Amino acid sequence: MEQEKAMSGEGEAAEVAIAATATAGEGGDAPPQPPKSKEPAAPQTSEATKDEVPPERPPLRCLVLTGFGGYDKVKLQSRPAAPPAPGPGQLTVRVRACGLNFADLMIRQGVYDRLPSVPFTPGMEGAGVVIAVGEGVSDRKVGDRVMVLVSSGMWQEEVTVPAVQTFPMPEAMSFEEAAALPVNYITAYMVLFDCGNLRPGHSVLVHMAAGGVGLAAIQLCKTVENVTVFGTASASKHDVLKEKGVSHPIDYHTSNYVDEVKKISPKGVDIVLDPLGGADTYKAYNLLKPMGKVVTYGVANLLTGPKRNLMAMAKTWWNQFSVSALQLLQANRGICGFHLNYLENEVELVSRVVLQLMTLYSEGHIKPHIDSVWPFEKVADAMKQIQEKKNVGKVILVPNSEKKN
Ligand SMILES: NC(=O)c1ccc[n+]([C@@H]2O[C@H](COP(=O)([O-])OP(=O)(O)OC[C@H]3O[C@@H](n4cnc5c(N)ncnc54)[C@H](OP(=O)(O)O)[C@@H]3O)[C@@H](O)[C@H]2O)c1
Repeated sequence: MEQEKAMSGEGEAAEVAIAATATAGEGGDAPPQPPKSKEPAAPQTSEATKDEVPPERPPLRCLVLTGFGGYDKVKLQSRPAAPPAPGPGQLTVRVRACGLNFADLMIRQGVYDRLPSVPFTPGMEGAGVVIAVGEGVSDRKVGDRVMVLVSSGMWQEEVTVPAVQTFPMPEAMSFEEAAALPVNYITAYMVLFDCGNLRPGHSVLVHMAAGGVGLAAIQLCKTVENVTVFGTASASKHDVLKEKGVSHPIDYHTSNYVDEVKKISPKGVDIVLDPLGGADTYKAYNLLKPMGKVVTYGVANLLTGPKRNLMAMAKTWWNQFSVSALQLLQANRGICGFHLNYLENEVELVSRVVLQLMTLYSEGHIKPHIDSVWPFEKVADAMKQIQEKKNVGKVILVPNSEKKN
């Protein structure tokens, strides 16, 4: 039905109009945007002069979430290409690569905690080239290669974003790497160092170890002396995990990971990274050594297939971990929560982390592991790659169709 509508002229016009509003971060609960001046600042384009009539630009492609549900809810659409006109404090970026995150699957199913109203363009991160600069932006210029972190809106060919939510890319970094870095590495860095207080000699249990955040966390653990990493993942990914520095890969499909950890380390571990939620948070807490910490940062257990599963939601909610302050005191354990999306106004805090990450990248300590690169047309296959647990590392979307998987 929706497909039929998309094929009709009326449907197309409506969809173009919808897509035209898809500026990054302008979802239902988008971060505050710098006010747009009534007359937008003259865009700083490379060679345009006053007398030139700008050449007609082809329409811009964008992915749009048209409703909550299965893979077919994300549609490739197009919008007219108006000349870029970033407002004060903004930049317009020609997007070259975007990150696909686990959260994007949850958003599509309507089980994420921060949902803009449909239709909107998803995408929290990406990388590209600055093509126009708004008034008051002095530290970015046309031609700069930047990575971008926003709450939504990146999955399109051109995007206008606050300049403070962009970060210059190191010369050696590819667009795919830059699109893979912000969400996974900021999360891994903050959960390990800010929440977990990772120190030399610690032991860490990393779940979803072969995913984007998991591999980032493993690389970051290796920057600290003598850290022992336990990692859960499907058995086919264990060789890669060992190569990356996991001492004890565990196949959670065929064994009880709590028993496996205890066989090797009877006292448990110092830090558990918990992206699973529900009953797994209890297990994480009970695996802690004295002074150990659980960092909870996801509820992957909600996703059991391509569509929302009410039973899984009820089960996860029913098994929600809770502990009293007195119990924590007596156990000498800590619990910490992390959600990058809710740090959207903490520009300085996040920028500090990005700076640290850029140093680690330049020194060769971290490097995003790209699983696969998919053109916008194949967004459903890209999502399946994660949903069906096939990915090792980051899944990337690119606006152009030349890159095939
Ligand atoms: N709080 C935050 O700010 C924040 C930011 C980023 C990510 N996260 C969370 O961190 C977790 C990892 O994210 P990511 O982007 O790194 O993941 P990802 O790369 O998409 O990882 C996917 C892998 O996770 C494993 N997995 C475990 N449970 C799964 C399930 N129910 N459905 C599908 N795959 C499952 C599968 O591998 P194996 O079978 O091999 O384990 C799958 O290949 C997610 O819970 C995400 O929501 C939180």
